[in-house]
Amino acid sequence: MTAAPKTPDWPAARARRETVLDAVDLKKHYRLKRGLFRADATVKAVDGVSFALQTGRTLAVVGESGCGKSTLARMVTLIDPPTSGQLKFDGSDVTGVSRAEAKALRRKVQMVFQNPYGSLNPRKRIGTILEEPLVINTGLGRAERRERASAMMAKVGLRPDQYDRYPHMFSGGQRQRIAIARALMLNPRVVVADEPVSALDVSIQAQVLNLMMDLQEELDLAYLFISHDLSVVRHIADDVMVMYLGRPVEHGPKETVFAHPRHPYTRALMAATPRVNAALRQEIPPPSGELPSPINPPSGCPYHKRCPHMTQRCADEVPALREVDGRRVACHYAERMD
Ligand SMILES: Nc1ncnc2c1ncn2[C@@H]1O[C@H](COP(=O)(O)OP(=O)(O)OP(=O)(O)O)[C@@H](O)[C@H]1O
Ligand SMILES: [Mg+2]
Repeated sequence: MTAAPKTPDWPAARARRETVLDAVDLKKHYRLKRGLFRADATVKAVDGVSFALQTGRTLAVVGESGCGKSTLARMVTLIDPPTSGQLKFDGSDVTGVSRAEAKALRRKVQMVFQNPYGSLNPRKRIGTILEEPLVINTGLGRAERRERASAMMAKVGLRPDQYDRYPHMFSGGQRQRIAIARALMLNPRVVVADEPVSALDVSIQAQVLNLMMDLQEELDLAYLFISHDLSVVRHIADDVMVMYLGRPVEHGPKETVFAHPRHPYTRALMAATPRVNAALRQEIPPPSGELPSPINPPSGCPYHKRCPHMTQRCADEVPALREVDGRRVACHYAERMD
């Protein structure tokens, strides 16, 4: 018996899920100059994040404003190099590659941004916007480019006769469809979506999320999906990583994390989100107090100052991210969170 060829269209290959992107202990530290009389400071925007992204799967990254989500997105899309750590694409290290190699890789890892108003050039027609990546990266002629752009418009639910329209003639949801279409023009394997539905009305959010899920299935895409909204994450994620001050505090399969969160921060976030976990919402107050600054993070567990379960150990000792009950969690008392 001869083995079937391994192509992305072969259904058995999909069932076998391949790791396309591997992040190993990624860190991004920014040096801040603070003037003549104060010492420079370091912002640990991302401080040790590891995950694997698989074809056809979605890893959602959640956490409050400033926890490092967009910084992580910029590293994964090779826009910003990490301070340390490794990024592997199809098993090869791409952390220190040349500019030319990074450019080629960026075709395979595309980004969709939060704001569909700011990310589309208002002076260009939709057709031009969609064809631009083809003009820059391929030698395709005009007719073929137009054909591919029209086909992509149909795929994301736009009408081909809207080809000559300008971005302002579309609604927010339609513009985000255009941004998604543009990201897909070069057949990427990974899409990093940074709050892609946060700027949209709730009634439109589900439509765009469903479109993204359909496209994922059809094209076998791996998604890194960034959101601060757990009700959105619950809709789209396979795996969830909760971040706090640049570090993952809980990371595992969505069902496991949502059914029984074991980090007090995850529990507080869920309690603060309507419709996510009614039982927790009754029991647990939302995160209290201010998010500490990543310039001077607290000693020990970064969450201890806001945590209702904190002990002296939490102030003294940084909890390691460790396997508990089917997920990884960074809390000394994860086993007790029932
Ligand atoms: N270029 C930079 N120089 C210095 N500090 C930065 C820089 N970019 C980000 N930061 C800091 O790094 C931290 C993480 O920022 P980041 O934008 O990644 O957060 P985020 O989780 O995306 O937040 P939001 O939900 O508001 O988008 C913040 O404290 C931010 O001020
Ligand atoms: Mg952000």
